[in-house]
Amino acid sequence: MVLIAAPTPDSIARAANVLTSGGLLGLPTETVYGLGANALDGVAVARIFEAKGRPAFNPLIVHVADASAAENYAEFSDEARMLAAVLWPGPLTMILPRKADCGISDLVTAGLNSIAIRVPAHKVARDILKAAGVPVAAPSANISGTLSPTTPQHVADGLGDKVDLIIGGGAAEFGLESTVIDMTGDMPVILRPGAVTPDDVARVLDVTPQIDDGDKGDAPKSPGQLLRHYAPRTKVRLGVLQPEAGEGYLAFGPCLIKGDHVKNLSEKSDLFEAAANLFNYLHIMDKGGFTGIAVAPIPDEGLGLAINNRLKRAAEA
Ligand code: TXA
Ligand code: MG
Repeated sequence: MVLIAAPTPDSIARAANVLTSGGLLGLPTETVYGLGANALDGVAVARIFEAKGRPAFNPLIVHVADASAAENYAEFSDEARMLAAVLWPGPLTMILPRKADCGISDLVTAGLNSIAIRVPAHKVARDILKAAGVPVAAPSANISGTLSPTTPQHVADGLGDKVDLIIGGGAAEFGLESTVIDMTGDMPVILRPGAVTPDDVARVLDVTPQIDDGDKGDAPKSPGQLLRHYAPRTKVRLGVLQPEAGEGYLAFGPCLIKGDHVKNLSEKSDLFEAAANLFNYLHIMDKGGFTGIAVAPIPDEGLGLAINNRLKRAAEA
């Protein structure tokens, strides 16, 4: 049985040791739980792909303790530095030109000449990164294409013995993966919506980034834009006001439908609360023995963009 350890100085030292000795670590971040390995160690990184059953072309995010560590692996433009100064640590991943000879395994970047990098805000994640002293490649700690984990138990349930150690750090604050922004072109482009919104970026850069999350059907810029993703086993239906008999119902906002088959993402229509509950409630519904999961309409604005982006993927048959 894989161990879920509370974050003590002792367990954080053990976590750092798992990383530096080529192991796989389940670690908390403010977005979702990550499956971490030393990004300099190609064999350790390969174990991530194997454990997740992840297509090898899908590159991973490198996590570092602070922006100055990030400069070892990526070329920062002035704009990227401004974003880092204001929005890191936090739920923002930047795609930047990869520094030549930076030592990051090619498996992490899937052979691209760009690199995805972020400084997580979760204190336990930062303590682990500081203690390990290596950049950590970490996708969400789940089997590829299934729901992202927002609690240590989700990690243990999904990956079991494939992970060497899990450090607990509570339920993930945001419950949605980080915003991915491509900073390699002339204009910033959001490839994956998340808790950092286009407006947050616009406040820093004075330009509103385009959103290109792959829904237009053109070739995906980010391999993670693959349509069926974040999917429970049970069929998902979106924009539903009245569930059918046998369906579980994920409500949003004030709702007259009551019963054991209903869970409300946020009774007070709070998108942050809904995002934080989303994957956990989908996990619960998926285990509920329903014929399908019906989901109420979620406003397509602010954090709702990110929630709907995940829901569309969950609903893809
Ligand atoms: O919140 C998060 O970002 C979580 C936690 C653990 O930090 N991690 C996460 O990683 O969601 P992952 O591997 O599930 O998602 C990485 C995303 C994928 O959509 C991938 O295609 C994209 O980033 N990506 C990585 N490197 C890229 C690159 N060089 N160019 C374009 N997209 C890239
Ligand atoms: Mg993922």
